[in-house]
Amino acid sequence: MTKNFTPFPERRTQRLFLRKINASDCEVILFLRTDAKVTEFIERPEHRKTKNISDARILITELDSCIEANHSITWGIALKQETPIIGTICLWNFSHHNKTAEVGYDLDPQFQHKGFMNEALKAIVDFGFHDLHLESIEACTHALNEPSIKLLMKHRFRHNEDRIDSENPSNIVFELENIGSN
Ligand SMILES: CC(C)(COP(=O)(O)OP(=O)(O)OC[C@H]1O[C@@H](n2cnc3c(N)ncnc32)[C@H](O)[C@@H]1OP(=O)(O)O)[C@@H](O)C(=O)NCCC(=O)NCCS
Repeated sequence: MTKNFTPFPERRTQRLFLRKINASDCEVILFLRTDAKVTEFIERPEHRKTKNISDARILITELDSCIEANHSITWGIALKQETPIIGTICLWNFSHHNKTAEVGYDLDPQFQHKGFMNEALKAIVDFGFHDLHLESIEACTHALNEPSIKLLMKHRFRHNEDRIDSENPSNIVFELENIGSN
């Protein structure tokens, strides 16, 4: 199946609504991209930093264009329909033949340690494997980012010690194979 993100594939889990991010989410996006706790282990090059509300609006437009071009997809994580988002989760960095993609996520610290990302990641791994037929999903995370590593290991991602993240040497690379695709 070719990857096609239109119509936007909203997802519902037991407690969450994963939806398209829109212009009204710009304050939360700015918060998630600037809060010291959320960004503690995330290094972004200068040109990818979101410094003010105008940058956040531009970023949302760029995320939209990526979805329209079937290039990458980012979901806003909300507790229910019509409520503000509390985090984001994305599939990006698709390989040339769409066999692998990378997952990324962040969550407002107020909502951490409640199992919400656990729920969101399950839904997005399921989307990647069942809807996109990915053969594997990767995640690059800072070697000291314990909550993220714990989350990935809970979902049976394996640390591939032979790989490095060329963009950030402090990161380690995790992989999850789609066993059903063999
Ligand atoms: C990485 C991140 C998303 C993890 O968030 P999190 O809330 O810890 O993750 P989970 O949703 O898996 O929650 C797990 C915790 O909730 C607890 N929990 C509470 N209720 C739960 C429930 N109903 N179901 C599952 N877990 C529950 C678990 O016991 C676990 O706690 P523990 O870590 O002390 O064992 C978060 O730390 C974050 O946003 N960090 C900043 C951004 C970032 O670094 N992103 C990664 C970039 S690669």
